[in-house]
Amino acid sequence: MSRTYVVTGAASGIGRATANLLAHRGNRVIGVDVRSGDVVADLSTPQGREDAVEGVLDEAGGRIDGVVANAGLSLPTAATVAVNYFGAVGLLHGLRSALVAASSGAPRAVVTSSMATLMPVHAPLVEACVAGDEERAMLIAADLEAQGPQVGAILYPSSKRALSRWVRRVAPTATWAGAGIPLNAVAPGIVRTPMVEELIATEEGRAGLEAAVPMPLHGYLEAQQVAALIAWLVSPENTHLCGQTVYVDGGSDVVLRGEDVWSWNDPPSTVSTPHDEARESQPASS
Ligand SMILES: NC(=O)c1ccc[n+]([C@@H]2O[C@H](COP(=O)([O-])OP(=O)(O)OC[C@H]3O[C@@H](n4cnc5c(N)ncnc54)[C@H](O)[C@@H]3O)[C@@H](O)[C@H]2O)c1
Repeated sequence: MSRTYVVTGAASGIGRATANLLAHRGNRVIGVDVRSGDVVADLSTPQGREDAVEGVLDEAGGRIDGVVANAGLSLPTAATVAVNYFGAVGLLHGLRSALVAASSGAPRAVVTSSMATLMPVHAPLVEACVAGDEERAMLIAADLEAQGPQVGAILYPSSKRALSRWVRRVAPTATWAGAGIPLNAVAPGIVRTPMVEELIATEEGRAGLEAAVPMPLHGYLEAQQVAALIAWLVSPENTHLCGQTVYVDGGSDVVLRGEDVWSWNDPPSTVSTPHDEARESQPASS
């Protein structure tokens, strides 16, 4: 059955590939972008987000089956935080009631985060974002931007960490899970799109990325490969994924974070086994 989807950042890269894939499968897609599309709006400002929501609701007649909040920037500037965090969260807030009204009974929402969630972040900026304090977040972001691109580079991972934390915080609440809306994030590794074109064009750029974004499985992604995951996440087949950040990253998450990400709640080990006792009674080898 045809569904109505909203895709932001649909004029380029992952957003365009997602919009094309969903349309190719017989769905109606409303593309939102600052450059061109069904709804042209600037998601970096509160007014632009309001315009985007109004434009989408007009186009969709008030009912939407899925939202892909994907638009983003990776510049060392405050605008990166405005679009990546407040643009995505603002749009989802604005369109939530149209998702609840979806006649399909299978509303879905996805944001595009990044493997950059695993990189160092500016903690006060992340906290201001997740607290929903845009004014404070933008003041911090402007201050980081003013210190030059090397310092400003922390704006991108900070915006994506905040976004994945927001998803994790709100997805299980009455607003999303309680309303029957799976809300999740995708976290791509390096994807060949205009966003990273310059960076991966030189040997120096690629070498710099190697340690920061190790991708032992198949190397860099194509936008269509991320689109396939997003399309599943917004499909009715996805019934129980809640608040996850799904790393589609050729392995960078597992390489960087290692094998054990489950020990957060383990009690201190107090029970010893016969195997432990036998090992302890053996003389230490020299
Ligand atoms: N390319 C990568 O390696 C990579 C990796 C991880 C995550 N991502 C994320 O994927 C998403 C898509 O990026 P991409 O690689 O396709 O980049 P892209 O530059 O090809 O596309 C981004 C799109 O977002 C739109 N956009 C930017 N600012 C906007 C604004 N203020 N309002 C509305 N639209 C705006 C742009 O016009 C563009 O069409 C971003 O959120 C990005 O952070 C990309």
